[in-house]
Amino acid sequence: MQAHALVPKPISQFGADVRAGLARRGQKELPSKYLYDDVGSALFEVISLLPEYGLTRADERLLKNHAREVAGELPSPLMVAELGSGSGKKTRYILEALSSQQSSSSPVAYYPIEISTAALAMCERELSDLECVSVLGYEREYRQGLKEVASRRGPGEHILVLFLGSTIGNFERPADIQFLREVRRILQPGDALLLGADLEKPLPQLLAAYDDPLGVTAAFNLNLLTRLNRELGADFALDRFRHTAKFNPASRSMEMHIESLCEQTVSIPAANLQVDFAKRETIWTESSHKYSRNELMQAAFTSGFRCRAQWIDAEWPFAENLWVVE
Ligand code: AVI
Repeated sequence: MQAHALVPKPISQFGADVRAGLARRGQKELPSKYLYDDVGSALFEVISLLPEYGLTRADERLLKNHAREVAGELPSPLMVAELGSGSGKKTRYILEALSSQQSSSSPVAYYPIEISTAALAMCERELSDLECVSVLGYEREYRQGLKEVASRRGPGEHILVLFLGSTIGNFERPADIQFLREVRRILQPGDALLLGADLEKPLPQLLAAYDDPLGVTAAFNLNLLTRLNRELGADFALDRFRHTAKFNPASRSMEMHIESLCEQTVSIPAANLQVDFAKRETIWTESSHKYSRNELMQAAFTSGFRCRAQWIDAEWPFAENLWVVE
């Protein structure tokens, strides 16, 4: 169905992105980064506690079990930048291991980079008891934040970048590799990247993880519509849409969509837009790509790193990858 433009007036970046995603021909889409307003970030924390969603716990187990080995592979002095820190809970293991192994007596400098103000505040609170760590949050997009953090590098200081929780999987292929190459370009020999990536697994396990029976993932997804209503004055009626999740075998990703339950028109004043939906038409809101172990080894090479170590969780197929710059 078609989207109609209204009389143009200046729109925010959010409005412009919404307009670009919903006014396009073919599959409507919204960038997944907009899932993470304060409510969305809190709902994601709940998702990570669900029995069906083992990803975060696998990441955390690997960090807990191998933090000392990670720290042992890294030079000193070292600063830590984390892309998308979330609550910062998992990062504690790495920071503790680093502070006990670093030769300097000054605290390990940790810079979480986040677009969610609430997540950043949560992270600063969560780690506030670590005396051996200084925390300075950057409310920025990843690339900009990392460039700014890297510019603080002192003489002889190295950077460990943390990119955990398989957030890399929310990039399309090959944008994931392009992004990793950009990270590499900001880094120098002796720096490192610790990359958490979710691995391929049986379909029923994936479907339950992205469409849990309690409906938390559904709320996380549909919250995007409430955000459009609140911030852009849209009039989405939530009971006329539903959350769906499906596996796309071509891209090896789980996709989240919001499906229109009837033929309807929605207006989004602050995006200068009126959108028609056919019954069962969907808005694609997120892809979570799943990787193979070899693909990750290859990705290290293609993006300019060397894979120093890879650890796999025994319960939930997930890989923690330590890549270094030589
Ligand atoms: C943050 N990211 C890695 C999660 C994922 O699994 O792709 C976001 C998420 N979406 C639905 N459930 C969790």
